[in-house]
Amino acid sequence: MAGPFDLADDVSYQRWRKNKLNAYPKHLEDLIVTVADPRNLTNDERNAILDRCRRANMAIYASTTHTAADKDLPRRMGEQFGLVALDQNFLADEDAISTLTVAEEGTGQRTDFIPYTNKPIRWHSDGYYNPPTRRICGMILHCVQDAERGGENRLLDHEIAYILLRDENPDFIRALSEPDAMTIPPRMEGDAEARAAESGPVFSLLPNGALHMRYTARTKSIVWKNTPEMRAAVAALEKILASDSAYIIQARLKPGMGLICNNILHDRTGFDDSPVHKRIVFRARYLDRMQLGEESKTASL
Ligand SMILES: [Fe+2]
Repeated sequence: MAGPFDLADDVSYQRWRKNKLNAYPKHLEDLIVTVADPRNLTNDERNAILDRCRRANMAIYASTTHTAADKDLPRRMGEQFGLVALDQNFLADEDAISTLTVAEEGTGQRTDFIPYTNKPIRWHSDGYYNPPTRRICGMILHCVQDAERGGENRLLDHEIAYILLRDENPDFIRALSEPDAMTIPPRMEGDAEARAAESGPVFSLLPNGALHMRYTARTKSIVWKNTPEMRAAVAALEKILASDSAYIIQARLKPGMGLICNNILHDRTGFDDSPVHKRIVFRARYLDRMQLGEESKTASL
């Protein structure tokens, strides 16, 4: 399929690339949209969020008045952008929106999983262990309470990661698009296989032509295809993510703020809670991509 993500179509790629880099937000402030009520956006607020997401696949909304621990805030925020189909993951609360907070010892298995600890989380896109039939395309992180210290996120539009890699060497894209680029071994519970091994590409295209990225910088529980091309591509990506690239945006969500995005690359620093600042973040993952009115734009490139 010709288009900006086709390695054989350099004309489309160069045109798309130029527009993308020109429009990409330079500062955190450029991503933030102040909203009165995340559940009921005004037209101007909604358009402002759409504008950020078209440029960077993400926006940060900020409401100072709606700080309750209410899952309707992220749920209804998502609905206003076509994010409806929530992914059921095995640790999510019953309504499929996870409450990320430091699990207390003795409350069950969550203490085994880094999102439920105060440890740093390395670069990744969400649901990288999902099968290709259940790709996570959209995601919301909604902050109910911030930590006493730390808990910052770095954010990078996956389309920018694609550009930086392709500009350096198109072979990196070729390798990372192989269907068996990355394999997540099965998750075992005792002797039983709780989740089968999942192989998949890092870069793939969604039915509407949009770019999808599946990635984790974890070195445990991840097996890269063992070829020189793959090793070079993975090393190049790691280098980009470890750099102080101006395209990497750093944000610290405060109560009532949230990230809405097309499952961009992100990480999280470690953090320390205090009795009055115990970090609580709602996380909603969607099989949908945000509806940005971009389909016709992509098709015309
Ligand atoms: Fe994440």
